[in-house]
Amino acid sequence: MKAFVYTSLVTLLVASDAAARALVDLDPHLSARGLLTKRAIACTNSSVRASATYTGSNTTSTDVRLRISNGGAGQSGLVGALAEAYIDYALAQGIANESFAVDWITGDTTDSIKYITSGDADIAITYNAQAEYRALNLSTAVRREYGFRDHFYLLGPANNTANLTSNDTVLDIFNKIVTTGDSGNGTRFLSRYDKSATNIKESLLFATIGQIPWALATSKWYHQYPQFPLQALRAASLLGEYTLSDRGTFLTLASQNSDLTDALVLYKRGEDTDPQDLLLNPASFLLGARVCEDNLAIAQGFMDWMVLPEGGKKVVSKYVQPGSTEVLYTRAPNCTSTPAACAGW
Ligand SMILES: *[C@@H]1O[C@H](CO)[C@@H](O)[C@H](O)[C@H]1NC(C)=O
Ligand SMILES: *[C@@H]1O[C@H](CO)[C@@H](O)[C@H](O)[C@H]1NC(C)=O
Ligand SMILES: *[C@@H]1O[C@H](CO)[C@@H](O)[C@H](O)[C@H]1NC(C)=O
Ligand SMILES: *[C@@H]1O[C@H](CO)[C@@H](O)[C@H](O)[C@H]1NC(C)=O
Ligand SMILES: *[C@@H]1O[C@H](CO)[C@@H](O)[C@H](O)[C@H]1NC(C)=O
Ligand SMILES: *[C@@H]1O[C@H](CO)[C@@H](O)[C@H](O)[C@H]1NC(C)=O
Ligand SMILES: *[C@@H]1O[C@H](CO)[C@@H](O)[C@H](O)[C@H]1NC(C)=O
Ligand SMILES: *[C@@H]1O[C@H](CO)[C@@H](O)[C@H](O)[C@H]1NC(C)=O
Ligand SMILES: *[C@@H]1O[C@H](CO)[C@@H](O)[C@H](O)[C@H]1NC(C)=O
Repeated sequence: MKAFVYTSLVTLLVASDAAARALVDLDPHLSARGLLTKRAIACTNSSVRASATYTGSNTTSTDVRLRISNGGAGQSGLVGALAEAYIDYALAQGIANESFAVDWITGDTTDSIKYITSGDADIAITYNAQAEYRALNLSTAVRREYGFRDHFYLLGPANNTANLTSNDTVLDIFNKIVTTGDSGNGTRFLSRYDKSATNIKESLLFATIGQIPWALATSKWYHQYPQFPLQALRAASLLGEYTLSDRGTFLTLASQNSDLTDALVLYKRGEDTDPQDLLLNPASFLLGARVCEDNLAIAQGFMDWMVLPEGGKKVVSKYVQPGSTEVLYTRAPNCTSTPAACAGW
């Protein structure tokens, strides 16, 4: 029985692969997504265009052996800084013996999990524990590490139409935004509205106070703006709207155009002191299940290095924008030695 099932399976695989090859012969573009690339053993090209490629010290390497998907930390350059440092480490340690390159693929939490599921990315950097556990449960991810801490920032216009004060809790703030928005006092909230982890967080905060402003009829003060983090923060500044962003994005925009960040007031920020802080934003690294055999050691090596105090954690704790001394992110705790610090992860 077993043998029969095995034979049938092999026949099926061969048949479907032959069919796939025939299709690819007809249309070479098909090889990019889905068909042949679905075979776990082949190291194939990603169908998703990289936003940047990093090479480490050997600037002539072109052989992409690792693909990392993320939104904000890609835009801020942290993914690049990690990639550059890891490539040199991997070569020095013999994890790889030939120069290689690392791609950054732009994607929010939902996209990134989709990319490791399809095999278009090897590692996803994501910010939502429930979505991450789900990926592990579904075996689309095989390993999860606490990579670094980002911090949500609740920002808004200087004229403070929602009348926020420094004593407000984050839930007080969301209540005031709803109240002053409904009363037509000029308060507007810019929602990422894109299934990103920030969009999930802002939605959770509204739902916690019993408000679903995105449901029909959509609240008139609720502005749906599905763009990546830097673009969304830029719009909130230009339009004088409240929004949920994060420290990495804020400091990155500040380094590019400080007029935009100067026009915003930071009303509330996540802190490292309380691991359960609603505005603390832990970043997880998920290793995808479909990393091809030839690149597995490099991808596993990256996960190992990321949590080393002298590895990825050191890069995180030193990462600043050019011309600034303010660090964008803080290092993740060691969940074995300080489990309480990982309570919100
Ligand atoms: C992957 O494919 C794209 C377009 O098909 C091509 O431009 C790129 O050079 C390829 N990269 C590698 C590493 O093969
Ligand atoms: C740099 O990378 C290129 C292309 O992969 C390779 O041919 C060359 O040997 C590398 N140089 C060093 C110093 O590793
Ligand atoms: C790199 O070379 C060293 C020494 O020859 C060897 O032990 C190691 O297995 C090689 N690593 C890879 C990834 O091939
Ligand atoms: C993962 O699977 C376990 C066992 O089936 C289940 O108890 C748990 O709720 C699942 N978690 C998620 C986040 O899906
Ligand atoms: C703003 O809040 C302060 C302090 O809670 C209150 O005294 C004031 O009346 C409020 N202003 C408006 C316009 O709601
Ligand atoms: C915040 O609370 C403190 C202590 O209750 C109070 O003295 C202060 O006036 C409050 N600040 C504002 C802006 O309401
Ligand atoms: C809205 O603005 C009016 C006029 O400035 C003010 O009286 C009222 O308290 C404000 N309402 C809220 C909820 O802030
Ligand atoms: C508050 O400031 C924003 C610009 O930052 C402006 O668009 C808006 O009209 C102002 N609202 C009020 C009520 O003054
Ligand atoms: C985390 O802490 C444990 C217990 O102190 C230690 O054995 C382990 O090496 C630490 N992990 C890392 C990656 O430093």
